[in-house]
Amino acid sequence: MKALVLCGGSGTRLRPLSHSMPKQLIPVAGRPVLVHVVENLRELGVEEIGVIVGDWREAIEEVLGDGSAYGARVTYIPQEAPLGLAHCVLIAREFLGEDDFVLYLGDTVLTEGITAVAEEFAAVPSAARLVVQKVADPRAFGVAETDADGRVTRLVEKPSEPATDLAVVGVYFFTAAIHEAVAAVPPSARGEREITDAIQWLVDAGHEVRATVHSGFWRDTGRIGDLLECNRELLNGVRRRIGGRVDGASEITGEVVVEEGAVVVRSRITGPVFIGAGAVVRDSHIGPHTAIGAGCAVEAAGITDSILLPGAGVRRVGGVHASVLARESAAGPAAPRLRLAADRPAWVGAAA
Ligand code: DAU
Repeated sequence: MKALVLCGGSGTRLRPLSHSMPKQLIPVAGRPVLVHVVENLRELGVEEIGVIVGDWREAIEEVLGDGSAYGARVTYIPQEAPLGLAHCVLIAREFLGEDDFVLYLGDTVLTEGITAVAEEFAAVPSAARLVVQKVADPRAFGVAETDADGRVTRLVEKPSEPATDLAVVGVYFFTAAIHEAVAAVPPSARGEREITDAIQWLVDAGHEVRATVHSGFWRDTGRIGDLLECNRELLNGVRRRIGGRVDGASEITGEVVVEEGAVVVRSRITGPVFIGAGAVVRDSHIGPHTAIGAGCAVEAAGITDSILLPGAGVRRVGGVHASVLARESAAGPAAPRLRLAADRPAWVGAAA
């Protein structure tokens, strides 16, 4: 089986964060969302991964390279504009060939992986198998209607009056039957070729389409609050590893990762916490549920339940909570010693 991971699109909802980095590359628990995606795919035994890229191709290539660091082979497929999820399948035709594949939206976090769904797809013949989850308000998602046997009978994209509470999670398993469907559906009212329309086409053409209800943790990292939830959830799974330097005046409790080249001085770190390579934490209280990115500078600060993107700095701020600090941004009453790139937004965002 192959995989097609979608990293095109413009990420408007995460602005201004997504000005300096695409949402698929925002680190949660210290690693980009996209790396968590690739790890879930490797768990399925998938080695051939096609990655749809738009404007952020270079940044994405920098992280995944040729895939060998993750035991995979990555092929980049450029998309000229975000013309829809079905358009992505259309332009990946040559890469996908006649193989079964999993379509994985690059901004999707599923902390428990997707092996159970893959096994069901392999065991029960169908043209497509969707992952769905019961949610309180499915209006922001594709919504599935199913029969008693888990067969999908109808799919609607972001309905104002959802018929069920089953939201479509951004992971879909397909056979080659989907290619005829994506070629057949016209662009929707919002000008995109919708994968939901293509799947509905399969249903209408008499193909078997099934759904697996996933009850584990799932978020589409479209909003700051979702990113923080993903960060908490993934940090809960980290195990203590001190690769960097921690001085004798510091106190480390619980599951804490201090990566190689990071330095912790006179600080209290309460896990789960991730401190990235080359970060410096001095005279501060960090955690729980905090990920400090590579190369960050933190001094005389108190930070809980937050993400600092690489190169961010916090100085003399006591109560940073539920915040995401953009790459190379600075927070503090005076930040002359922090690296603040003039061309990037300095921004501190709190979750609503
Ligand atoms: O998150 C689950 C939802 O994802 C599903 O419930 C919906 O049915 C599905 O349409 C999709 O909706 P979104 O509005 O969340 O999709 P979004 O535009 O955010 O795109 C999802 C990912 O795909 C994102 O990583 C960007 C990438 N993408 C998107 C488009 C439209 C591309 O690579 N190319 C594109 O043309």
